[in-house]
Amino acid sequence: MREKILDFLKKKEGYVSGDQIAGRLKISRQALWKHIQELKEEGYDIVAVPHLGYRLESVPDRLFPAEISRDLNTEFIGRKVYYFEGAASTMDIAAELSLKGAPEGTIVIAESQTKGRGRLGRIWFSPKYKGIYLSLILRPRILPAQASALTLLAAVSICEAIREITGITAQIKWPNDILVHNKKVGGILTELSAETDKINFVVIGIGLNINNDKKSLIAGALSLKEQKKESINRVLLLQEILRKIEKNLTLFKKKGPSSIIDKWREHAITLSRRVKVYCQSQHIEGQAIDIDADGGLLVRKDSGIVEKVMAGDVVHCR
Ligand code: BTN
Repeated sequence: MREKILDFLKKKEGYVSGDQIAGRLKISRQALWKHIQELKEEGYDIVAVPHLGYRLESVPDRLFPAEISRDLNTEFIGRKVYYFEGAASTMDIAAELSLKGAPEGTIVIAESQTKGRGRLGRIWFSPKYKGIYLSLILRPRILPAQASALTLLAAVSICEAIREITGITAQIKWPNDILVHNKKVGGILTELSAETDKINFVVIGIGLNINNDKKSLIAGALSLKEQKKESINRVLLLQEILRKIEKNLTLFKKKGPSSIIDKWREHAITLSRRVKVYCQSQHIEGQAIDIDADGGLLVRKDSGIVEKVMAGDVVHCR
């Protein structure tokens, strides 16, 4: 009901009388008043003027499911939203939901995380209301070895959405760092449950620094707000990421990984660069020449031998 009331208020520019809303939604004036109080407690700035009615002045800067769903217009990505003010990690919640049968496209959002995690056991710093901390459940019919293509797909979708909503050009550092001017604004963590030849589910975790001020960013990181010098609407950006993921996933299902890999190359910062790739206790150095259909990075060493790396940390040398 609260969503319907909000829809009503959002569509009207001026005041709407309580009688009109209550009549249209077939609730009592008293019930309407109660819902309005609850919305106000959530941060919706609704003014009530006797004889005129209600007017929505502003919506809170929150990733509420009702805000995400409004005008999202996707078929399956983000149709089911689980929202938490705080969580340990959205990855664990999404994995639990997946085990219980949550459908493909379900998302878990937290406004903050106490145990946000990144790749290679790192911590993902997740201050409240500043970023997007999201886990997306997918159930693709692909081989486990092809799952890293989904990470690339998410990275491409994020770059496309950032460009569309903020005008900022973001680039991808292999495999999944989102950079702006060589500083990290986001990362992707893909975890999967699979058998030898079948994926049960994949959880794609996306962390983005959006409205962090300089002092709340770790070294080497940047937020979109710092880059743009103005606050970014997190709801609009999140919605666009979901739309782009759905579009690219549909393309991937129809045409296979090459469609995504071509797009990935357009956004990649790593290709043609001299790199050092650290994997476990060793590293290889050479020129990053391409990625292959599995998302592996091809590095030509000084000896001329080309090695394929599936995981690791890349340092751009020059
Ligand atoms: C990385 O760059 O290492 C990946 C970072 C991924 C962070 C996101 S935030 C939402 C989701 N929940 C987590 O605990 N991690 C991912």
